[in-house]
Amino acid sequence: MVDKSTAKRLVDEMISNLPKHNRQQRPVHTIGVGVDAYFTASDVARKFCIAEHFSGERICAKVRFSNASGGPEQHDGWNDVRGMATRFLLPSGAATDLIATTLREFFARNVEDFFEFTKLDKHKPYRRESPWRKILDMLQLKIPRRDPYPGEETNASAGILNYANRHRFAQLGVAEFKKIGAPVSYARAAYHAIHTFIVEGENEVRRPVRFSWQPVAGVGNTNPDAPPVDDYLRQELEGRLQRWPARFVLMMTIGEAGDAIDDPTRPWPARRVRIVMGTLTLTGVPEDQATAGEQISFNPLRLVRGIEPSADPILHARRDAYEVSREMRGGTACPFSHRSCADGE
Ligand code: HEM
Repeated sequence: MVDKSTAKRLVDEMISNLPKHNRQQRPVHTIGVGVDAYFTASDVARKFCIAEHFSGERICAKVRFSNASGGPEQHDGWNDVRGMATRFLLPSGAATDLIATTLREFFARNVEDFFEFTKLDKHKPYRRESPWRKILDMLQLKIPRRDPYPGEETNASAGILNYANRHRFAQLGVAEFKKIGAPVSYARAAYHAIHTFIVEGENEVRRPVRFSWQPVAGVGNTNPDAPPVDDYLRQELEGRLQRWPARFVLMMTIGEAGDAIDDPTRPWPARRVRIVMGTLTLTGVPEDQATAGEQISFNPLRLVRGIEPSADPILHARRDAYEVSREMRGGTACPFSHRSCADGE
């Protein structure tokens, strides 16, 4: 956990990197859409985690999808990480959140790294690369820098690359970020909660785990050479959900001895046991987006009995940073009544 003044500094540093910031909005993941949903745990889920949402009962949920970049401008077609924040509204009256992004690994191990990143992550005016430079890059086995998207005037890549060149631990996350692209739909991306959590299963067995959402419709990105218009993701989701619900499967990967528990920059080996924990069904995009998405404040440490945080310093720093941000923008912790999830949704 960090003290409140460090949390405020974290948020202030993020804001200082934004060319435009509206204090009523989130400093990052600013553009998003709130969606109604419900979650049903799999038959085996309870064996591995005793938390209430894995009991098997249908659980009402609220989801907010977002573009990770900060600022009020909407550029759905640009290369950007996407977010999926889910609130499970539990029958007992409690609530728990699971916040995930399309990035699998983070680029900072602790708040000091994060502060250094925010110092280097300064935007510079975009310079188009000449065809000769691109050929030279390829001859040197470098990936040529992509051309700016229509309307993209500043470029953050130089600062991010500078940071990644200084720190080996950041290279995986930054490399992933550079080629992440834009999904054809928020419902066609895989989202990862990145941190390790400790879950308690049957017979009080505790295990380190990482969660991710896999889209049932499959992962699909747009063509980077023909980027779509700026604001297609919300309309696409509305149209999709009017035709048919969209689904995500919640996967839980179990860590083994030697796997990084407290470091969100380090991946786990691919061959780890993965448990299907349940299915999230998206049912519709409510008209009232202020309540469904904009006012709500998710928090990665809003947890319930059966799930505990690991000692990951980034995970703990996020608790107060999200609270500071909520206070700044006047968000509410949980604006939903549990009865708002109508039967049969
Ligand atoms: C020290 C590291 C981090 C800091 C300081 C930070 C800070 C923030 C802040 C201030 C917000 C806006 C919160 C609000 O106003 O409600 C936010 C949103 C968000 N962050 Fe982070 N974050 C960090 C790491 C991460 C990581 C590792 C993930 C990956 C799971 C992540 C995913 C998200 C998502 C998806 C949102 C949007 C949530 C929503 O829709 O409300 N962040 N972050």
